[in-house]
Amino acid sequence: MQPRTNQSILADSPFSLTSDAAYSQWREDKLRYKKPAVSDVLVQIHDPYQLSDEEKVAIISHCENFNMAIYQLRNSAIQDKSLVHALGKQLAMEALDANIRSDEDSVSSLEVREQAGNKYIPYTNKALSWHTDGYYNALDKQIFGIIMHCVRPAAEGGVNSLLNPENVYMTLRDENPAYIEALMHPEVMTIPDNIEAGKVIREAQTGPVFMIKAPVGEEAGRLHMRFSARKRNIIWRDTEDTRAAVEMLNELMADENNVLKIGLRAGQGIVCNNVLHNRSGFTDSENQKRLMYRARYYDAVA
Ligand SMILES: [Fe+2]
Repeated sequence: MQPRTNQSILADSPFSLTSDAAYSQWREDKLRYKKPAVSDVLVQIHDPYQLSDEEKVAIISHCENFNMAIYQLRNSAIQDKSLVHALGKQLAMEALDANIRSDEDSVSSLEVREQAGNKYIPYTNKALSWHTDGYYNALDKQIFGIIMHCVRPAAEGGVNSLLNPENVYMTLRDENPAYIEALMHPEVMTIPDNIEAGKVIREAQTGPVFMIKAPVGEEAGRLHMRFSARKRNIIWRDTEDTRAAVEMLNELMADENNVLKIGLRAGQGIVCNNVLHNRSGFTDSENQKRLMYRARYYDAVA
């Protein structure tokens, strides 16, 4: 199946550059939900296998408003990986993306490990620069939702920063609509082939930064972002507006006033619609080694 293009979904969308009225309305609604504090998006969960209606509604509405929720299990001793699958199912997140380093159940155990072949930074203790997950995926296999559960934090560091792409879109569009046009261009960002031992293990992927997720049922098409701040291995379209837009994007992410920072503790986790995020470097100790379970879905939180 061909992915629907931005153009075919854009009619009457607030994300169309020709629909100023729809954009103004959306913008006004969204301004109430600029940058959340952790307390704005925090949900206490009694039993991850059986969310109460209140818990579920809270997670869904935080994701509706901010594209992210942070949960805290009342009992942080519950640590079985099945809790991630269970949480996802209850939030209509079921289509899991399997990737090169994920475990057999398609959920990844992010920890420092020895890696043969290409070294993937998530499995080291190094900092991870700003990105959305799966930016290198095919356009019809984009990641719309993520659950990341903290089994054990590192002895030090490993802090995540989160930024809602809707805020970024708004700031860029208000500054100059041409930036949005540049970032919605179908050839604005190319990720080259991923080659391991001389073999292409993932083909080059070209696409927009801002995409509109095809509407589901009554829901309007959501804004989706495909992005990596890596300097190497990203080929940007060679235009002045693209350069200026990417530069402003980098400035927005670098400004701590815009981002939510969270050092997840054991039993805490993030549920989000694949917002922009990064991770600071960390240090494990003998008995405190960072372990996160991460699930990536083709579904947004609903
Ligand atoms: Fe990520």
